[in-house]
Amino acid sequence: MSSPKPYNIAIVGGGISGLTLAISLLQHNIPITIYESAAHFGEIGAGVGFGSNAARAMQLLHPKIYEIYQKCNTPNTWASKVLEFFTCRVGDTRKADKDGFVKPGKKVGDALFSVEYTEKWGNGGVYRAAFLDELVKEIPEGIAKFGHKLVSISEAEDGSGKKVLHFEDGSTATHDAVIGCDGIKSITRQVVLGKDNLATKAVFSGKYAYRGLIDMDKAIELVGEEQAQNAQMYFGYHGHVLTFPIAHGKIMNVVAFNSRETWDGPNWVVHTSKEEMQADYAGWGEIVQTIINAMQKPDIWALFNHPPASTYYKGRVCLLGDAAHATTPHHGAGAGMCIEDALILSNLLKDVDGIRDIERAFGVYEEMRKPRTQRLVKESKEAGMLYEFELEGDDLDKIEKNFTNRMYWVWNHDLPADIEKARSLFLGGKAKV
Ligand SMILES: Cc1cc2nc3c(=O)[nH]c(=O)nc-3n(C[C@H](O)[C@H](O)[C@H](O)COP(=O)(O)OP(=O)(O)OC[C@H]3O[C@@H](n4cnc5c(N)ncnc54)[C@H](O)[C@@H]3O)c2cc1C
Ligand SMILES: *[C@@H]1O[C@H](CO)[C@@H](O)[C@H](O)[C@H]1NC(C)=O
Repeated sequence: MSSPKPYNIAIVGGGISGLTLAISLLQHNIPITIYESAAHFGEIGAGVGFGSNAARAMQLLHPKIYEIYQKCNTPNTWASKVLEFFTCRVGDTRKADKDGFVKPGKKVGDALFSVEYTEKWGNGGVYRAAFLDELVKEIPEGIAKFGHKLVSISEAEDGSGKKVLHFEDGSTATHDAVIGCDGIKSITRQVVLGKDNLATKAVFSGKYAYRGLIDMDKAIELVGEEQAQNAQMYFGYHGHVLTFPIAHGKIMNVVAFNSRETWDGPNWVVHTSKEEMQADYAGWGEIVQTIINAMQKPDIWALFNHPPASTYYKGRVCLLGDAAHATTPHHGAGAGMCIEDALILSNLLKDVDGIRDIERAFGVYEEMRKPRTQRLVKESKEAGMLYEFELEGDDLDKIEKNFTNRMYWVWNHDLPADIEKARSLFLGGKAKV
């Protein structure tokens, strides 16, 4: 192995972004420390879906990460449906005419169309906690410091340009550069954009979600094998419901969306009553009602997203993942973009042999990643409206046309070409110095 790079980097936050980045930087012998506010690594007990772009990013990032993904990944169970993102149906009876039809020959709950990947591999969903547990095993002892909640970053007083991280408990740490992977409520985002910049604060998207897990045996009993074992989306007025299998088909993951105009209060996850949850789907058909009734914990997750950031770095402080571009989940692609970010940034840092080139690498990373990731935030919000009859109205043919054409730029992106472009931008710049 080559000798360690002559600089050290602080990674703030150990979620999917921080961990995938850390594993790939370690592979390039770049000294890092992860500072995580929680007492230990942890993900929520829910599913996360990945498209073929995310799978490709993991494969290119590190063989071990891809191996972990393959180990945890659960595609649709039926061989005839492995290419499907979602089978789409109407879930809301208010869309039906007096004979129960939502369009000629189709009733509430009937399969209307499916949105499909063009690549045969890679897509699927994982149980978040299991996936993160496996990633954590790849981080050597001593790299992660827990209970370190970043509150601010200052310049080192010796004029070295080093960054001093200040933590809530009063302790500090000094590093040559900082990569903020601290999520949607990022402190590093405030450092990069300026505390008073409105773009530092995520805004409510108008949507919230209930998330739940149903044992597969139970799910099959409720909705039948086809719908329990393969990803489904049920459209409605100002709401939609999606389900997909995780945990090797042992669990059906449910996310049920609904709308409200504003979100008050600092808590983005609040407990509600089962009655309130059921009231949100009062006008819906039997299948959706059955799924909703089977959800155990009626917690509401408010869905926020970031306004576009003017930049993703300032000096030697850089943003990655949700800290840079937190999105609504309606393209199922937020975490995939985090992993793509890690892929591009680690391929740039691989070529950085001295401190003076770090900032330029951050600049090329921003140039490569900002357009794509900010497009996702915008179009994901739009997708949420599409599924809820707010973009193309309740015209099912228009919805089909729009949905079946809106995902390819996410999934079929040429990541190897991006890596090559990023490295040539960086190395080209280097030659000129
Ligand atoms: C309902 C919902 C469904 C979703 N579904 C999907 C999906 O199907 N597919 C998909 O690709 N994406 C999905 N996403 C998006 C995805 O979850 C995120 O994009 C991804 O998890 C972000 O990872 P991250 O590591 O950047 O941030 P986070 O997961 O938020 O991790 C940030 C980490 O930083 C730590 N931290 C925060 N502040 C500090 C601080 N000041 N100091 C130190 N540490 C700190 C936190 O404790 C945490 O560990 C969904 C999101 C939601 C809300
Ligand atoms: C979906 O609809 C919106 C709004 O009409 C439009 O801007 C967008 O281009 C459409 N996308 C596709 C892929 O048809």
